[in-house]
Amino acid sequence: MAKVKRLYRCNDCGSQTPQWAGRCADCGAWNSLEEEIQTPSTAANQSTISRHNGYAGEQKSEIQSLSQVTSEKAIRWTTGLPELDRVLGGGLVTGSVVLIGGDPGIGKSTLLLQAMAMMAKVSGVSPLYVSGEESLQQIRLRAERLQLEQSPLDLLAETHAEQMIAVAKTRKPQVMVIDSIQTVFTELLQSAPGTVAQVRESAAQLVRFAKSSGTTMILVGHVTKQGALAGPRVLEHMVDTVLYFEGDTSTRFRILRAVKNRFGAVNELGVFGMTELGLKEVSNPSAIFLSRGEEAVAGSVVTVTREGSRPMLVEVQALVDDSPLGNPRRVSVGLDQNRLAMLLAILHRHGGITCSDQDVFINVVGGVKLSETGADLAVLAAILSSLRNRPIPRDWVLFGEVGLTGEIRPVQAGEDRIRDAGKHGFSHAIVPTANAPRKPIKGMTIIPVQHLGEAIDALKNAG
Ligand code: TYD
Ligand code: MG
Repeated sequence: MAKVKRLYRCNDCGSQTPQWAGRCADCGAWNSLEEEIQTPSTAANQSTISRHNGYAGEQKSEIQSLSQVTSEKAIRWTTGLPELDRVLGGGLVTGSVVLIGGDPGIGKSTLLLQAMAMMAKVSGVSPLYVSGEESLQQIRLRAERLQLEQSPLDLLAETHAEQMIAVAKTRKPQVMVIDSIQTVFTELLQSAPGTVAQVRESAAQLVRFAKSSGTTMILVGHVTKQGALAGPRVLEHMVDTVLYFEGDTSTRFRILRAVKNRFGAVNELGVFGMTELGLKEVSNPSAIFLSRGEEAVAGSVVTVTREGSRPMLVEVQALVDDSPLGNPRRVSVGLDQNRLAMLLAILHRHGGITCSDQDVFINVVGGVKLSETGADLAVLAAILSSLRNRPIPRDWVLFGEVGLTGEIRPVQAGEDRIRDAGKHGFSHAIVPTANAPRKPIKGMTIIPVQHLGEAIDALKNAG
């Protein structure tokens, strides 16, 4: 093996130095030097040189026309957990590399232990679970709790990347889980495990091995609280699929979200509930996010959002209260803070309703994060309802994007959303005019609105 040279590179200006320093000597940036390895004159460099000299290397680069490139259909294994399969785009693609990120304690190890055990049974593959965080006894205890201790699953406690690869080369597992990438280190670097350089370099080695051997690999990454820098962020470009496991550890519900997927749609959601017996799938998530009391209360509104291919009903709550502060608070959980400020400005300018002396709090129930604009109208309705202390009837839903000129803009798949709300027993829907279905939907009264003023009027008539 060629001797490796260590050097430090500045993250800001890219200059190199052989020694670490707190400050880059070239650009003066603090704490920007990061360890890096350099392998001198690799085969790749040599072939470029020979090509320059007029010799063709052994591997010629050839142009092929797109229509003549043969494609192989991706083979997918079912993981035995339909919610996970769906987020992956219909099963785990063989030979792909998946990264699952999430806060510590959210349930990543539980999810993967369950998935691997089920997969071994359902799809007949041979998985290898490499743990750098827990001892084999701890994993066994967990498996007993999950009643999976009889599963045909191979375990390995290892943190050394080169060792893992050596074991994998002889055992040839079809699927390999690395839990977690932060504990893995490579001997090529001197820095401690968990540092950005170590995480990146060991992940690169593992991904290279996975791609060259055709092993399907699942990497687990912790998202660190202080900025996701040492977390999975630095790995996102190396892998085929990035999933985030989210949720509040104080609530039972966990959401698995695809943020990058070379083999499927992004923003697909899978919902799980953490129980005594591990993660249970929730096939009808609207039901849990909507567990409301019997009576209509002011400040609570239901909207239909769409995550991936599935409409989902969520409750948006607002509390508007006289502010003792000169600069009233605008706090939102589950919704972008700037979006809230913008909606309040629209409400003032185009609806003639001011909240400038009021604290406004928004909460999306169940730990859901609203990432699409279709919830705008519901947020405004919740604010209005709380401000006026007038409940919106429990069987009303709203959705629609609110533009800066006060117009209500259509959202994707409006009719799907209305139908889904109908299925859950809602009877009235305030929707953008362009989303109003052409044919009436049974049991649903549609109130199409084009401008914020119309929506406010519709709400007045409702309560
Ligand atoms: P874990 O999978 O260890 O989280 P991560 O790998 O993401 O750090 O799960 C941690 C939490 O899940 C832990 O606080 C206990 C809880 N849990 C249950 O509630 N039920 C169970 O059956 C299991 C295995 C864990
Ligand atoms: Mg874990």
